[in-house]
Amino acid sequence: MSRELAGDQLRFRTAGMDWPLHGLTMVGLPRLDDLQACVEAAVGDGVQGDLIEAGTWRGGAAILMRATLDSLGDDGRTVFVADSFQGFPEVDRHPRDGYDLGADLAACDFLAVPLEEVRDSFARFGLNRGVSFVPGFFEDTLPALGARSWSIVRLDGDTYDATRSSLEALYPGLSVGGYLIADDYLQIDPCRQAVDDFRRQHGITEPLVEVDWSCARWRRERGPATAERDGGAAPCSDGDTRSSPRAVARTPNRRVPAIEEVELRHELSELRGRLAAADAEIERLAGSPLSGPRAWLRRRLGLAPGGRA
Ligand SMILES: C[S@@+](CC[C@H](N)C(=O)[O-])C[C@H]1O[C@@H](n2cnc3c(N)ncnc32)[C@H](O)[C@@H]1O
Repeated sequence: MSRELAGDQLRFRTAGMDWPLHGLTMVGLPRLDDLQACVEAAVGDGVQGDLIEAGTWRGGAAILMRATLDSLGDDGRTVFVADSFQGFPEVDRHPRDGYDLGADLAACDFLAVPLEEVRDSFARFGLNRGVSFVPGFFEDTLPALGARSWSIVRLDGDTYDATRSSLEALYPGLSVGGYLIADDYLQIDPCRQAVDDFRRQHGITEPLVEVDWSCARWRRERGPATAERDGGAAPCSDGDTRSSPRAVARTPNRRVPAIEEVELRHELSELRGRLAAADAEIERLAGSPLSGPRAWLRRRLGLAPGGRA
């Protein structure tokens, strides 16, 4: 795709700052390089456990994880690919600072990528083996993975709820030497708050490493407490109702507009507004004694609008 892009578009894509029209991931090159390095380090150091991405969209980052394992000849691990595959849920149960990021994201059909499409993308790269899809909202699906061990847990669900519920379900299973990667820690406040709350409540002190302008990660240095491993992490203590998230009603098979189309539509409606305002101004001037051929004539003759010189 990079051959089709130039200038700012290419810079934004390389840095992972846009929602690509065709690309398989929103993630940019430095973060993908880092993800590959984490997988290589986990395998090289013999860290136990599978890999998971919670929030996969079109699947590109998880595809890279599977491809890296294959390139290392590691076929003993599974890459879990977790997503609703129908976008963000209807409401964020923990809107922060009066702003509901989840509601904004839930409105974006562009973020709802069906499971079949993601499965097909893995297949196109010949990467169908050693992959397990986990369709559904994290709050409903991830607790069932609580008994597994992980070498890489990559979180990319953006909101407080998604990040928090993923951490609660998956962190207890992260092996010592494994990586916790929070894709939006430096960019999205609710994501950072969820990670910070979880780290504080669980006494996690391993240093956070900045990967790029958005992503941060840490490598687990100490094992989980037995109670944490066996009974799951302490529940979220800020009014979590534990109700299942609800899917947004989306028109099936509706063509998803590209982000450029959405922006163009926005520009068009702004232009229409300006045109309407200009029309109204012309209308007003047309009715004024200062406009029209007579007014022009009066001005030429140096006459005031009322007829006096
Ligand atoms: C920012 S996108 C992920 C980007 C992706 N990792 C990439 O490489 O481009 C966020 C994804 O999280 C999913 N998501 C958000 N909240 C969720 C939830 N509570 N349960 C399941 N999936 C969720 C959305 O469907 C969306 O695909």
